[in-house]
Amino acid sequence: MNINVVGCGLAGLSAAIKASELGASVSLISPNYSETSQSVMAMGGINAALNTKGENDSIENHYADTINGGCEINNPKAVFKLTNDAPKIIGWLEKLGVSFTRDNDGNVDLRYFGGQKYARTAYAGARTGKQLVTTLTSHCRKKEARGQVKRYVGWRFLSLIIKNHQCLGLIAINENTSEIRAFKGNVILASGGLNKLFGKTSGSVLNDGYATSKAFMQGVTLANLEMIQFHPTTIKTTNKRILITEAARGEGGKLFVNRDGKPWYFMKEWYPEFGELMPRDVVSRGIYKASNAGADEVYLDITHLDEHTIKVKLDEVYNICMKYLNLNPIYEPIPIFPGVHYFMGGIKTDENHKTNIEGLFAAGECSCQYHGANRLGGNSLLGAIHGGCIAAQNAYSTNIDTNESFIRKSLENEQKLFDSWRDGDEKNIVEAENELSDIMNASMGMYRNFDDLDNALQKLNVLKNMKIDSAGNYYDHVKINSLFVLASACIKTAIERKESRGAHQRSDYPETDENYQKTTCINFDGQIKISFEGLDD
Ligand code: FUM
Repeated sequence: MNINVVGCGLAGLSAAIKASELGASVSLISPNYSETSQSVMAMGGINAALNTKGENDSIENHYADTINGGCEINNPKAVFKLTNDAPKIIGWLEKLGVSFTRDNDGNVDLRYFGGQKYARTAYAGARTGKQLVTTLTSHCRKKEARGQVKRYVGWRFLSLIIKNHQCLGLIAINENTSEIRAFKGNVILASGGLNKLFGKTSGSVLNDGYATSKAFMQGVTLANLEMIQFHPTTIKTTNKRILITEAARGEGGKLFVNRDGKPWYFMKEWYPEFGELMPRDVVSRGIYKASNAGADEVYLDITHLDEHTIKVKLDEVYNICMKYLNLNPIYEPIPIFPGVHYFMGGIKTDENHKTNIEGLFAAGECSCQYHGANRLGGNSLLGAIHGGCIAAQNAYSTNIDTNESFIRKSLENEQKLFDSWRDGDEKNIVEAENELSDIMNASMGMYRNFDDLDNALQKLNVLKNMKIDSAGNYYDHVKINSLFVLASACIKTAIERKESRGAHQRSDYPETDENYQKTTCINFDGQIKISFEGLDD
């Protein structure tokens, strides 16, 4: 059985390892090496109710916090499996050699993260993503050495091969040689979030959203695209936003603005019980409000923590501040502001990571099932690894009859498109990408309203009709044109959800409306179609 995995971050690596363990022959297709995937940027940790602190944490608590954090539009069955499997995943990772930070008793240490009442987040300093990627990559290399996994680095996904609602494989292009080839078999998309739509995010622009947008235009259902997470504490640099991990608040970091010459700790005042450790959507809105919509500087203060905590448990925070802000966080507070961090929406899957197309699966940030309207910190690494493994198991047990002539025809068609494409001359791609991200940032920020969203759609329509000069790069050409469609789909979902919930705040519909306690489903048949589906449907 062939299984083709698109994307080599934690979801892709987990899928490749699991599928090869089951006996599949795996192709792992990605533009980059795992070591440069977005997963390595993850700092804070991975959640599991291990209860090593003796606080009576439980899988039920993890489930309840995840659903509450997601404002009750998560897929309950998927969250049940996720939280139930979390302790086993930590065990598996330890067995593979991940060196989690340990407490004085030698147990995996657990830290506090937002939206969770218990210390539940296992970590490796503030480099958890790097630790996990390094370990899974070396494990995957062993599989490569045995011929069970074949890596295609420098290859870009172009399209799915779909016939009669069944996925027969995919087509990809080699960025260096322009070779286009078909990969037969089941497909697991693990291609990450939609960062390119917003430009400057805390994620990687290699996760550009193209695979999601192309799959969408080929009939794959998307969900909850309006749910875009702003991480409360990011710093601005020229090219991107850089994360200051939530672990800094988990270790006791405090947020303040200066009022009348004194620090005002607004989160503690507004939310006495959980303060800075409220769920991310609440903290981000708190920062927005306390700063008068960004007019005043907001600071994250960790100067009261001991030096060992800052240099060892929060090592990346220390390094980032020294390197990018020329600021020593041991002595000075860190200026922060919320930034786009995570896409809760994406390719709609069920709890088995199946999409609406047989033989097609999705896992990690490109997919939508676990996080509802707001993801809890520490649930993304968990979701990526869990999702990769579950997708692999289900892909391995799904047999689709191959149809050689249809696959050949699809490849020929893709080759014809490549041979006949010509660059446009109305707008260069860099300008087009900048305009796209300006439109998205102006309309899909922390607060939305109909007028801004409608205005964004109109601007997008003008951009969509322009002939873009992609500087001779075929992938960029197909990407930008399909990102315009995906951007329209995001904006339309935000228009249709006429309520405020989690990451989706409508200033013209400020209340949560229980009639929208549903999944937003987005389909494409030449037109973008939005509908709402009950959570148990
Ligand atoms: O703040 C953080 O360390 C981010 C973690 C996450 O998004 O899960």
